[in-house]
Amino acid sequence: AWTMVNIADEAIEEIRAQVGDKRAICGLSGGVDSAVAAALVQRAIGSQLTCVFVDHGLLRKGEPEQVEKDFVAATGVNLHVVNAQDRFLDALEGVTDPETKRKIIGREFIRVFEEAAREIVGSSAEEVEFLVQGTLYPDVVESGGGTGAANIKSHHNVGGLPEDLQFTLVEPLRTLFKDEVRALGEQLGLPAEIVWRQPFPGPGLGIRIIGAVNRERLEILRDADAIAREELTRAGLDREIWQFPVVLLADVRSVGVQGDGRTYGHPIVLRPVTSEDAMTADWARLPYEVLSKISTRITNEVREVNRVVVDVTSKPPGTIEWE
Ligand code: XMP
Repeated sequence: AWTMVNIADEAIEEIRAQVGDKRAICGLSGGVDSAVAAALVQRAIGSQLTCVFVDHGLLRKGEPEQVEKDFVAATGVNLHVVNAQDRFLDALEGVTDPETKRKIIGREFIRVFEEAAREIVGSSAEEVEFLVQGTLYPDVVESGGGTGAANIKSHHNVGGLPEDLQFTLVEPLRTLFKDEVRALGEQLGLPAEIVWRQPFPGPGLGIRIIGAVNRERLEILRDADAIAREELTRAGLDREIWQFPVVLLADVRSVGVQGDGRTYGHPIVLRPVTSEDAMTADWARLPYEVLSKISTRITNEVREVNRVVVDVTSKPPGTIEWE
């Protein structure tokens, strides 16, 4: 029978055949896909793999710590951490176009990986030849790499790679859907907190700020997002909800009133969705009490936000992310 054990064994054999005795690096995003890809490649080639975690400043609250602790604890993988916040935020300065943001983020990722690869091998004569990516089948299709699909968005790990890429890609999950990746992750012994983590896009909060990205806006969104996630978890809805993007409309302001004063703040959009594989999605009917709690807390605790709205659009016609 075609089981996850078979898939794992076959994938491990294929990776060994492709990589041989060469070295590889794998970018960890904190998400399931890159974690499973890394765990699989580690099974195949052991210490020839080094994982690279790029803190691009577009992460959610607590995420850097999660990757640095949970994943390393679970796998014992070699981890190389790069603080690249300034670099990404400088490159994104003033950029509002979603595809341009994605291309910039994808490009900077690769440049950082190239530098990390040089640091990892140090003065030894070896080179890192391979870059492991957790690209899934839906990413391939939606970036136009599948059979005849239009380019909807350049997922940074598919459409946004520079032409002069110095690595050969290893993409062991390229034919799989998310549920298969989760099953594979369990098969590989990854902890539930990693396997069942909701998907989070590589470009991170960079594509959840509608408008230009800067530190101040990231701070606002990070605070609002942390509240939304906390309340979803408290309500026990983490697994039921496929994904819960929280979006900052940074160029929009609306009038509000708080205490006895007028406010002129930004709206936050809640975008909870249910889905099987992210190819299609339905807006999630979150209980009113949960929405109410999130709204009250965000407007009370995040000073620059005076309005919380809920996105009730399915995919299609909306996509899950706003950019
Ligand atoms: P959309 O917004 O196209 O998203 O409905 C489908 C799924 O893909 C995730 N996503 C990304 N993941 N790099 C990623 O690794 C990206 O550039 C990217 N863009 C979207 C999104 O969060 C959803 O799960």
